[in-house]
Amino acid sequence: MSDTDDRFEHAKALFFEGLASFEAGRFADAQTQFLASLERVPARVSTLINLAGTQLKLARAADALRTTDQILTLEPDNLDAWFHRGNALAQLGRPEEALAAFERTLALDPALGAAWSHRGGILREMNRLDEAAECFRQALAYGADAELNGYYLAAVGAASAKDSPATAPRQYVQALFDDYAGQFDAHLVGVLKYQAHEVLVRHLAALGHAPFASALDLGCGTGLCGPLVKPLLAPGAARLVGVDLSAPMLERARALGVYDELLQADIVEHLRRTGPRHDLVLAADVFIYVGDMAPVFDALDRVIDSGGVFCLSAELAGPTCTTGFELQPSLRYAHTPEYLLALAAQHGFEALLMKREPIRKDQREPIDGLFVYLRKR
Ligand SMILES: C[S@@+](CC[C@H](N)C(=O)[O-])C[C@H]1O[C@@H](n2cnc3c(N)ncnc32)[C@H](O)[C@@H]1O
Repeated sequence: MSDTDDRFEHAKALFFEGLASFEAGRFADAQTQFLASLERVPARVSTLINLAGTQLKLARAADALRTTDQILTLEPDNLDAWFHRGNALAQLGRPEEALAAFERTLALDPALGAAWSHRGGILREMNRLDEAAECFRQALAYGADAELNGYYLAAVGAASAKDSPATAPRQYVQALFDDYAGQFDAHLVGVLKYQAHEVLVRHLAALGHAPFASALDLGCGTGLCGPLVKPLLAPGAARLVGVDLSAPMLERARALGVYDELLQADIVEHLRRTGPRHDLVLAADVFIYVGDMAPVFDALDRVIDSGGVFCLSAELAGPTCTTGFELQPSLRYAHTPEYLLALAAQHGFEALLMKREPIRKDQREPIDGLFVYLRKR
């Protein structure tokens, strides 16, 4: 075998290793392998395309953009390169250029549902809601994920009431937080000034119902509530359990060492099947992904003790909301206080306290939050 053949075979093996790493979600390994493959055989377009996709997964948008530059120099009409370029520009906060890249993608293949969907996402963020709706309709027409694009369509106000989803699609929530887990604490708390965990537990502590024997943290995420709630638990045998859909978020919560048990599950499914009962159930900034709260309250009945406390935060719905909850263009649900209190009363809870305080900032503006404290009769 000549040196050239040898180098080519080695590059090919590294390329396939990169694909396997990518499939397994090991994106840092995949990047290393694609780069090593390119060292042996530079400028191979298929490797560069996969490298760009991997760099986007690693939130290395500037690198991904450079990679797409390289591909487009070799092949100016490369569809995948234009698609990745659109996503890289969107990640970099350059929406107009991202739109142009998706327009080029769609000129090359007008039936690419994912490109319609991503283009719609950018228009949604730019508050161009009618144009966004049209993109989501095209995405649906061209076979892109129906649940996801139906949710996007509802968020921009373009779905009928009967087609409006009652809760966020599980795959949407999981993908969002699987990707976000690494930056969650630094970005949400550090940059967006997230404080729902701190506000929720501060008022809970002031109510004077502690100590609790068994606490359940619904949608515990990286465990920001854990260390705050721990001092409210009875010393000794008290337990703290966390539930979340996202495994990478749970991994971070586990590293804190304050939870006795952490489970990867959907909230309602967990409440419907779990054995242990709790005298404290808390949920900070989780019901922004759950519109219809009736299934949560129904399932909570079998989990919470009489005298037990259920506290939660929600985004405050605007005065035009007549249905109790609404899916907003931000892709988050907001609820009215009347809706939450009526459901609570139907399920045998008395209201101990309700507070309005910001949850965090969004585009520098505070997001109005409701903090609700209920006690099971
Ligand atoms: C904004 S984070 C808040 C995390 C944590 N409570 C805090 O205050 O930092 C929302 C979390 O809720 C989780 N989540 C959303 N919907 C869920 C569901 N239906 N079942 C379980 N977890 C869910 C997400 O995976 C994410 O970790």
